[in-house]
Amino acid sequence: MSFKVLVSDPLAKEGVDILKGFCDVDEKADLSEDELVKIIGGYDALIVRSGTQVTARIIEAADRMKYIGRAGVGVDNIDCDAATKKGIIVSNAPEGNTLAATEHTIAMMMALARNIPQATASLKKGEWKRSKFMGNEMNGKVLGVVGFGRIGREVSKRAQALQMTVIAYDPFIPAEVGAAMGVEMMSVAELFTKADVITVHTPLIPSTTHLVNKESIATMKDGVRLINCARGGIIDEAALYEAITSGKVAGAALDVFEQEPPTDSPLLSLDKVIVTPHLGASTVEAQKNVAISVAQQCIEVLKGGSAKNA
Ligand code: NAD
Ligand code: MLT
Repeated sequence: MSFKVLVSDPLAKEGVDILKGFCDVDEKADLSEDELVKIIGGYDALIVRSGTQVTARIIEAADRMKYIGRAGVGVDNIDCDAATKKGIIVSNAPEGNTLAATEHTIAMMMALARNIPQATASLKKGEWKRSKFMGNEMNGKVLGVVGFGRIGREVSKRAQALQMTVIAYDPFIPAEVGAAMGVEMMSVAELFTKADVITVHTPLIPSTTHLVNKESIATMKDGVRLINCARGGIIDEAALYEAITSGKVAGAALDVFEQEPPTDSPLLSLDKVIVTPHLGASTVEAQKNVAISVAQQCIEVLKGGSAKNA
């Protein structure tokens, strides 16, 4: 009997083709939890992006399953404890979308500084309001990078090329790593007081949940700009709303939200907030990279081996 793999979120063709060279593949997106529970027992592996919530109920019903692959970084949509209890290997593709998320962060920072989305919308409405959209240069400004991992470091290099001074906070990265790149590492409290722009690049875990909150925003410079292209919930959205309406925060660029999609978020009504629908990893190049990586790891596991990012 050949192996059967379910791909339950859109996966780049290059990855699907690799899987098809080894096993049967079903591509079925937008399944409900109940639908997944019904069919999951027929599969040896499951590959997801961020759309599918792989809950304990689904894992409980996955009696043949050996592998769950996440075509991306965060495995926060997979109940890893339930998978481990069931002896299922879970792995991700943490490197393939680093540059996509990095470039998206830089694009969001520049769009925020120059009001590009707002000015586009205004001009398309037939207006010609040049003075309304006065921006700021990033040259010479201080960028505070919270989370100095893969994406945080790549963002830092590009910000330095824009002649920004980069400072960073990461409790797990030694100061020498920053120093070697010309980045001063410091406490998060100090970073918050010194940065003109703050960008977060951590996972969403208890120590980072609402790391940017009412109290920490109060310590920041007036007119600070905030960017979140990592995970919704690192910035407290209610506190952000208050700080933007009070004028303390000059603007925010958000790719991720506490609830996705953020249909009821009052932040969407604010001109000073620019948003994208979780597009950080959405480049052709990144999707190809992550699809190939999880497909290869899936096959290794089905052959009885291990997954390199397990
Ligand atoms: P990474 O693991 O390389 O880096 C994360 C860094 O956060 C690590 O260096 C870690 O030490 C640090 N960290 C952990 N706890 C911290 C804390 N309390 N305070 C400060 N730093 C802390 O991950 P990465 O590949 O750089 O990804 C960063 C984030 O971006 C992840 O949440 C990932 O899921 C997200 N991401 C989002 C998109 C998107 O589409 N928007 C795309 C790729 C990645
Ligand atoms: C990730 O963690 O890799 C990103 O959120 C991108 C995605 O959702 O695919």
